[in-house]
Amino acid sequence: MLLLILQWIGIFYLVKIIYHLISTILPSVVARSWSAISPKDLPKKYGPWAVVTGSTDGIGKAYAIELAKRKMNLVLISRSVEKLKNTKQEIQNLYPVEVNIIQADFSEGKKIYENIEAELKDLDIGILVNNVGVACPDPTFRSFDSTPQDQLWNEIIINVGATALMTKVVLPQMKLKRRGIIVNMGSMSSQKPHPYLSNYGATKAYMELFSKSLQAELTEFNVQVQYLYPGLINTNMTKDNSLTSKTIPSNVRHIVYPNASLYASWAVCSLGLFRRATGYWVFDILHAIQQMETEDFFTMTMIKVLKNSYGKQLIT
Ligand SMILES: NC(=O)c1ccc[n+]([C@@H]2O[C@H](COP(=O)([O-])OP(=O)(O)OC[C@H]3O[C@@H](n4cnc5c(N)ncnc54)[C@H](OP(=O)(O)O)[C@@H]3O)[C@@H](O)[C@H]2O)c1
Repeated sequence: MLLLILQWIGIFYLVKIIYHLISTILPSVVARSWSAISPKDLPKKYGPWAVVTGSTDGIGKAYAIELAKRKMNLVLISRSVEKLKNTKQEIQNLYPVEVNIIQADFSEGKKIYENIEAELKDLDIGILVNNVGVACPDPTFRSFDSTPQDQLWNEIIINVGATALMTKVVLPQMKLKRRGIIVNMGSMSSQKPHPYLSNYGATKAYMELFSKSLQAELTEFNVQVQYLYPGLINTNMTKDNSLTSKTIPSNVRHIVYPNASLYASWAVCSLGLFRRATGYWVFDILHAIQQMETEDFFTMTMIKVLKNSYGKQLIT
């Protein structure tokens, strides 16, 4: 009798876990299938121009290409003029869209926004992608007190500051036109405490709460806010990361640790469909597993994995 009860409890939890996994995998798969069946006319729905920050490399560049593919004109904002010109050329070789470039270094703080505002003032902006973000270069994971002061400050002023101030630049126009969407590029590190990544994870947690609160404020103006929280993506930010090279088997590496183009091709499908999304089916599974773990278990496991991967390099 006891065995039978235990069997049923086991089956109940197994079904619960399977249901949880399926329902969390579905968003990205549903979004991708839906966008294939019924592609959105982004310029019509939101307005003809999209602004992407940090758009000369990695996710920002790949996401900009996906938007151009969907007929959005682009404003690329990044640090290096040379890379901006090259990216503009690359996109215009692929798609017949207008591309404007603005050189700006988001680590310089408030003073850069006056020029950005002036450059954007005559454009009908429908999409803002707050993508620019920085993390500590190798080792990415390190104790808070061993992280250089400039790095900590840059993470705050770029990841948080640029999100708030860029949103402030484009919002009045979106509210007036009663259409638009702001996409905030967060990270899965905002979902659970991330030891040895405390400052970066906290900047992304800011983005999540900011997105939720702002959405509540903007619903009556028909303006949407989306929070994306991907896992690790193969870009310059993570390429020297010992964690990825030591923990991900090489045969599944390209799937579990996608490049920016693969990620962006999935993430863009959830635009306007979900307020919160990892943007990619593998990250949905990882997130579902992460959510089942207690914070204590998660942080304890993470510290173990980090110490194994980084060894002495993990500065404590
Ligand atoms: N890669 C990941 O695993 C991952 C995971 C989750 C979330 N994210 C988030 O995704 C976003 C993009 O990350 P990524 O991996 O694509 O980064 P990335 O490959 O390092 O690219 C960063 C982009 O931002 C620009 N940029 C950097 N600092 C800047 C500054 N001070 N002013 C203006 N532009 C600046 C870079 O321009 P330059 O070429 O001139 O440097 C580049 O175009 C970030 O917000 C990041 O936190 C990344």
